[in-house]
Amino acid sequence: MAAVLPLADLKQQVRPDTWLNSIIKGDCVAALEALPDHSVDAIFADPPYNLQLGGTLHRPDQSLVDAVDDEWDQFASFEAYDAFTRAWLLACRRVLKPNGTIWVIGSYHNIFRVGSILQDLNFWLLNDIVWRKTNPMPNFKGRRFQNAHETMIWASRDAKAKGYTFNYDALKASNDDVQMRSDWLFPICSGSERLKDQDGKKVHPTQKPEALLARVIMSSTKPGDIILDPFFGSGTTGAVARRLGRNFVGIEREQDYIDAAAARIAAVEPLGKAELTVMTGKKAEPRVAFNTLVEAGLVRPGQVLTDARRRFSAVIRADGTLAANGEAGSIHRLGAKVQGLDACNGWTFWHFDDGQSLKPIDELRTVIRNDLAKLD
Ligand SMILES: C[S@@+](CC[C@H](N)C(=O)[O-])C[C@H]1O[C@@H](n2cnc3c(N)ncnc32)[C@H](O)[C@@H]1O
Repeated sequence: MAAVLPLADLKQQVRPDTWLNSIIKGDCVAALEALPDHSVDAIFADPPYNLQLGGTLHRPDQSLVDAVDDEWDQFASFEAYDAFTRAWLLACRRVLKPNGTIWVIGSYHNIFRVGSILQDLNFWLLNDIVWRKTNPMPNFKGRRFQNAHETMIWASRDAKAKGYTFNYDALKASNDDVQMRSDWLFPICSGSERLKDQDGKKVHPTQKPEALLARVIMSSTKPGDIILDPFFGSGTTGAVARRLGRNFVGIEREQDYIDAAAARIAAVEPLGKAELTVMTGKKAEPRVAFNTLVEAGLVRPGQVLTDARRRFSAVIRADGTLAANGEAGSIHRLGAKVQGLDACNGWTFWHFDDGQSLKPIDELRTVIRNDLAKLD
């Protein structure tokens, strides 16, 4: 069961082990103040949308639509909503690690205000993702387009933030080797996933689909990362984070939602380490210099390298450079020079003879990388 922490207790206990994988009960702005600076890797925020519903809504058969009319979604004015948004986003920015990212989901009612405040606070927008719903609610009055999507803004802490997590290669491989696009198609949360009480009533009016959270988490975090959700609701972020081997911290002010979220998370079986390994591409592999091959004895000074068709050759020098035709340089520079080109990938151009055939020196780099991976 996820621990539930009253905010008063938390104020004296800011060590991560006291709030990790817990739900903090209270107002998120106050709760965030009790968390240490730069302590979370990612934030997923599903704030009140300030839906501004004017009265009750009925279907054509006069049945009542179960709309979001909860007190927590109501604000006296746009100014009040903006002030609240600024306060929680500022508090989030302080607890986010410098290379962390934030996701905020919203609808046309609030997402433009949220986006502009994010920019005012120096966050740097990376994408806006359109969640297109396969099964949206109809527009009952027939006076507007059917509202069939929500928007998620994904942002880094600032424009210069380096090294934020984006599992580009894994996303592409999982998408039939096609780049993942910014429009995502998912159904709204329904069926057995939707939490219901004993009377069959929805436990939470805006429970988000787990598939949506899974893509958010898989795309922008690593196993073991800490994900903060300041508007935890029914605990979708916590349930998916636990299944995917990530840590979470949730903040929620309504006890009923906290109880439902805690029970939901307790029932989740985390996936194993092997299933959670994130596929990475060449860019994520550790840099290995050609000299490392010389130092490791995989190639030796005086050895001759050639191209795949033995048209060009060069000699390896003890300092890890190559020499040919009175010129010397890196594997890349000399590869370009002998061919009369501006650039060349020396790792794939130069080959060594292993006694049976010519092989690219890139294969020897892989040997080093495999050794490095064993040290992890
Ligand atoms: C849009 S819902 C989040 C739903 C959630 N993503 C889920 O899948 O269940 C927003 C939640 O924020 C909570 N909330 C609203 N204002 C809050 C505040 N100031 N501090 C903490 N929680 C708040 C509400 O009680 C509500 O459960």
